[in-house]
Amino acid sequence: MSAILPPPRRIWWKEPVDKVEIIWIVIAFVWCMIMFFMMPYWHVYGKQNLSPETYKVRPELFARASQEMVDKYTVRTETELKIPVVAPPAGSDVYLIARLWDWWPILELEKDKTYRLHLTAMDYQHGFSLQPENINIQVLPGYQHVITIQPNRSGTYAIVCNEFCGIGHHKMVSKLYVK
Ligand code: CUA
Repeated sequence: MSAILPPPRRIWWKEPVDKVEIIWIVIAFVWCMIMFFMMPYWHVYGKQNLSPETYKVRPELFARASQEMVDKYTVRTETELKIPVVAPPAGSDVYLIARLWDWWPILELEKDKTYRLHLTAMDYQHGFSLQPENINIQVLPGYQHVITIQPNRSGTYAIVCNEFCGIGHHKMVSKLYVK
């Protein structure tokens, strides 16, 4: 019997299962189980698959809260787009907006201080990917993800969009400063 020619006996599903087939089924099943249990395991020990709190949010309210933070705590602007760099006080709520095709504003946080990071999208789905930490969070319009963060290493981190969002997707990159 070959995979190209039709089976000689039409009622092929009554054939006994071949040993090779059983081996492949077992391998596939074991691999499924490994992948399945890897998710909760990596949530606990890898500290990358975060569980953000999620709330519905109206974009205009989120934009207003972000604007208030930017008005109060902007320390300088960067790039030709004049994106504000914001240094909010430790312990405060900080806001980050994803939209076609930038992140707004740029956050400057202090090492070992705790912040409540709020994330939303203004238009389509984007992906918040913090590098090189490799932390990934979906960013969706109409919802905000809120994560309590405590940066433990100072430096300049890259934020890239890892959810395809159109022609400018590859340009949707930003920074996060930790001092
Ligand atoms: Cu935003 Cu891809």
